[in-house]
Amino acid sequence: MKIIICGKGGCGKSTTAALLAKAYQREGRNVLVVDSDESNYGLYRQLGLDLPEDFTHYFGGKKGAYRVFDDKGYVFDEKWNISDIPREFLTGDGNLHLMAIGKIAEAEEGCACGMGFTAKMLLDNLETGENDVVIVDTEAGVEHFGRGLDRFADVILMVIDPSYESIRLSEKVYDMAQALDKPVYFILNKADAEQAEITKAALRDKEAVVAVVPADQQIMMAGLRGEALDIEIPAINAVMDRIKK
Ligand SMILES: Nc1ncnc2c1ncn2[C@@H]1O[C@H](COP(=O)(O)OP(=O)(O)O)[C@@H](O)[C@H]1O
Ligand SMILES: [Mg+2]
Repeated sequence: MKIIICGKGGCGKSTTAALLAKAYQREGRNVLVVDSDESNYGLYRQLGLDLPEDFTHYFGGKKGAYRVFDDKGYVFDEKWNISDIPREFLTGDGNLHLMAIGKIAEAEEGCACGMGFTAKMLLDNLETGENDVVIVDTEAGVEHFGRGLDRFADVILMVIDPSYESIRLSEKVYDMAQALDKPVYFILNKADAEQAEITKAALRDKEAVVAVVPADQQIMMAGLRGEALDIEIPAINAVMDRIKK
């Protein structure tokens, strides 16, 4: 199963990715987190792992996958399982693995399109078994939809913080998920009861709300200190239950 996590900047995508990944790890699933955000570095810390080498280096740089595609008409010679991903691009802890597509490192180095393409080809090429869960953490907004990454996911999970911007973005995400015929679920994050009620009332599909995660001091402090999120949140189990169904 492949889950894509999306939402506006700062809404809690990476936090949700880490909490979900750790919860699936506790369940004994074989978990791969794919960091496809080309700007932010927090996720590996939230997972308590080392920063993996950029996967774009597998192709010799961020434009490499384009060159391979232009030459051969495809990017990977064969389908990969999680265990086929070259070890040098993975960090991990037991049944939890992390890979990062690539980060923008220098001023004026050019756009992140090559990274988006690499992420899309990788996700398309990955085959998941019964026990595998791939969680893709994305950059803010909906560019990954534009790039076509979401086509290769089984579930789209949108994190919504209590803001007008998130509510508006949720309409776009909902419509694009529908157009791709993918199930979409919403997590209301950093919301108290009143904020959750107002947000939910404004959403296109209230049934798509699978969990409400309140603003939590422990999450916030871990985020500030760059510490691993070794916190069990009941709402995350509700998300897993709904996805399982
Ligand atoms: N439920 C929550 N309670 C408190 N702080 C949160 C919560 N969710 C996220 N945060 C904090 O909000 C900030 C942004 O979260 P992050 O997951 O990095 O967002 P995104 O990946 O969407 O940009 C981080 O400092 C994180 O610790
Ligand atoms: Mg993030």
